[in-house]
Amino acid sequence: MMSPVPRRATVSVAFLAIALMAACGTPQTPAPKTGDAEQGLPAPSAANLYADMKPVVSVKELMYDLLDPLADNLFDAVSSVNTGKASVETVPTTEEDWDKIRIGATAMVEGAYLLRIKRPFAPPGDLNNSTGPEPIELSPAQIQEKVDKDPVLWIAKIEALRNVGLQALDVVKRRDVKALWDVSNDLDEACENCHLEYWYPNQKALLDRLDQKLRDLYGKPGQSGAGK
Ligand code: HEC
Repeated sequence: MMSPVPRRATVSVAFLAIALMAACGTPQTPAPKTGDAEQGLPAPSAANLYADMKPVVSVKELMYDLLDPLADNLFDAVSSVNTGKASVETVPTTEEDWDKIRIGATAMVEGAYLLRIKRPFAPPGDLNNSTGPEPIELSPAQIQEKVDKDPVLWIAKIEALRNVGLQALDVVKRRDVKALWDVSNDLDEACENCHLEYWYPNQKALLDRLDQKLRDLYGKPGQSGAGK
């Protein structure tokens, strides 16, 4: 049940994020010379931190044990099951339902910034599915290399996730059931866009080929999004 609107909404959110990044990346006064500033990132200011932040888990664990389970609060908030004759919709009705959605949204807006802390991408010794003839995933070292080469892009992907969280918080405030469908789609895209860039970029080529095949067969692109 996808309407054509959310896709456009995501594009504009992503575009806004990138535009914002671009604006932030050009400081009025010369930034202090740090490694990151030279790479095009605004220098972090310690003024808004009580103390330095230290990571405990890898990106992979942060995904599996924090962002993914709480994203489900948003993904599960609305659903539509086609029973053949009628479609049965699940939407939030009680305060408890909305609480769950707000918890998911809060986890996205705040949790996204935990990805700004430099941390290993996977636990020591975990190479992802990066070995063999046609590996589907990049190794943690390959992901690290990509992020080091263009940290601004990594930050933009994080910002895109955070923007969906902000959108979700606003939707909760307005109790806007209809807009929740957009949130769910946009969240899926924010997860997926980062994964396709850093985790399994080879799959993008695979998905493109699949889309082409489906287009050849049925004359329309396949639904290839899967952020979970
Ligand atoms: C800023 C980039 C980024 C965003 C946004 C992002 N992820 Fe991830 N995610 C990653 C990377 C990178 C990995 C792979 C880390 C590794 O295995 O080396 C990953 C891995 C995962 C994993 C695999 C964990 C495991 O144990 O195998 C899950 C699940 C996951 N992400 C879910 C999500 C969900 C759900 C969202 C959206 C709510 C999301 N991610 C958003 C970058 C991102």
